[in-house]
Amino acid sequence: MKAITLIIKEKPWIGWALFFSTILIVFLLGLLASSVIERRAEAVYAYKPSKEISQTEPRNTIWGENYPREYESYLKTADTSFRSQYNGNALIDALELDPKMVILWAGYPFSKDYNQPRGHYYAIDDIRKTLRTEAPMTPEAGKLPNTCWACKSPDVPRMMNKTGIADFYKGNWASKGAEIANFIGCADCHDAKTMNLRISRPALIEAFERQGIDVKKSSQQEMRSLVCAQCHVEYYFQGEDKYLTFPWDKGMNVDSIEKYYDSYEFSDWKHALSRTPMIKAQHPDFEVFKMGIHAQRGLACADCHMPYRSEGGVKFTDHHIQSPLNNIANTCQICHRESEETLKNNVYERQRKVHQTKDKAEELLVKAHIEAKAAWDAGASENEMKPVLILIRHAQWRWDFSVAGHGNAFHAPIEILRILGTSIDLSQEARILTSRILASHGINKPVDYPDISTKSKAQKFIGLDIENLKKEKQVFLNKIVPEWIQKAKEREAKYNFKTL
Ligand code: HEC
Ligand code: HEC
Ligand code: HEC
Ligand code: HEC
Repeated sequence: MKAITLIIKEKPWIGWALFFSTILIVFLLGLLASSVIERRAEAVYAYKPSKEISQTEPRNTIWGENYPREYESYLKTADTSFRSQYNGNALIDALELDPKMVILWAGYPFSKDYNQPRGHYYAIDDIRKTLRTEAPMTPEAGKLPNTCWACKSPDVPRMMNKTGIADFYKGNWASKGAEIANFIGCADCHDAKTMNLRISRPALIEAFERQGIDVKKSSQQEMRSLVCAQCHVEYYFQGEDKYLTFPWDKGMNVDSIEKYYDSYEFSDWKHALSRTPMIKAQHPDFEVFKMGIHAQRGLACADCHMPYRSEGGVKFTDHHIQSPLNNIANTCQICHRESEETLKNNVYERQRKVHQTKDKAEELLVKAHIEAKAAWDAGASENEMKPVLILIRHAQWRWDFSVAGHGNAFHAPIEILRILGTSIDLSQEARILTSRILASHGINKPVDYPDISTKSKAQKFIGLDIENLKKEKQVFLNKIVPEWIQKAKEREAKYNFKTL
């Protein structure tokens, strides 16, 4: 073949033809790009808002009148039909599936009732129904604080606007039962005027502020994760007034957060068997996601959980937030060319390996708690037990951090396996120390482990009367909840809004 310069020297018109066709291609590409950008803008302004919506409007139906596509897709979070190997949007009784957790949470409400999450649509329903929130028959009854409502509803920013932040958290959960009525929604993530993404939860803004970061200056891509980080994070209730706080001041990984909690001996509860001062991990989805390859390559939560969708030429954001495995074509396959089957198996393989290690970590933790109890029973002193309890505290915190986020095993498998590895190591150290303590109190035979093969056996072992708790709950659901719903309806009937 001749070099192109030679050809052009012989036939100059070829050079001109190449030149003009290049210009034409560049021009066409430019047209394409501008049409893509216009389409995106159209997506936002595809419909003319018909109502002026206030930032404190908690009802999704009202916002939905202005933005029907987003609203209708968001309502699909009510669907409970999809199940993947470990997750999906069905309600799964996690304690039935894995009764070891009953022992690990002995003395804490999670041992009564714990389900895997379902769609946002159920946020209010599920918090009312779980045995963890007890059956408070008066506004003052019950042990849980109002802070528990914080990640459930756009009525939360509405109330904070009215009462102030600190006063919102104060008081018992039941005292705001009639105020918090709408499931997670538009006002939680959007600015009412511009529909830009917006942080509505002060705890996230404050956590970044303490690190000298102004979260309001985040990029659009960062916001596509930060709106989720308002709720899908590790948190705790600080002090007497239960002020919602994210424990990120020393860093956001498991080790830094452990140091943070240890630095002032914070504990959520004292374990009923081992008497360990425990930390309950919540759902550190955001923190863990940030340690994985997809975050490192600049992806945001919305890239997999809220993909773009087209309908009649209009591109919009699919608000059906769910497992991406129910929508691989619009999520993973935007970037990966492999088949659905392969991609799904990539996820399952990582999850399976994490689950194997997780099961081992749980088994050893159960033994560590039960052996520690045996040591107390044999007359061990506080001083003897102290180092054991610190080991158990850290081992369980690490296990919980790994499993409490239901996407962790895929979001950052290597980090999660590392953390579970340290949990196993700490549990074994605790058990070695305990066996020495037992021996020094004359006990040399192995400790008896109870039969905890089902949820009900495990709950009986730790002394829970679940049947009674369920009965009380039913009375609460039949009597108090309808009153809450009625009051909310009366309040909302009084709201008025302008038609544009
Ligand atoms: C106001 C708090 C809040 C915000 C903001 C929030 N979530 Fe959630 N999310 C929840 C709660 C609470 C649940 C569990 C609801 C239940 O099980 O009743 C949940 C459940 C989920 C589930 C499980 C769905 C299923 O079908 O199993 C996914 C996935 C999820 N959220 C992703 C996200 C993503 C992605 C974002 C950001 C775009 C986000 N969430 C923003 C509170 C929130
Ligand atoms: C958990 C957070 C969250 C909730 C709740 C939420 N959105 Fe969104 N919304 C997003 C994200 C993320 C985007 C994508 C923004 C982007 O890519 O710039 C978005 C985009 C939009 C857009 C811009 C056009 C588009 O489709 O991309 C509109 C309009 C919108 N949402 C309406 C709503 C309405 C109406 C509701 C309530 C029914 C709602 N959203 C609830 C997070 C949320
Ligand atoms: C917006 C683009 C994008 C989307 C959407 C996306 N990925 Fe990726 N994925 C990447 C990039 C980039 C990498 C890093 C690979 C690299 O840089 O070579 C990656 C890496 C991976 C890896 C290898 C990482 C590891 O742990 O070894 C797997 C597996 C994977 N993705 C699966 C998925 C699945 C499953 C989904 C859907 C749930 C998905 N990805 C969605 C861009 C994406
Ligand atoms: C690269 C794609 C990808 C990104 C980005 C991503 N996730 Fe996930 N997420 C997944 C996959 C895959 C699963 C596992 C789904 C399953 O097992 O069915 C998952 C699971 C989850 C679950 C549990 C879902 C359930 O059905 O119970 C939650 C909650 C979640 N992710 C939240 C988030 C949040 C919050 C972010 C951002 C901080 C995020 N995810 C970013 C792919 C992603």
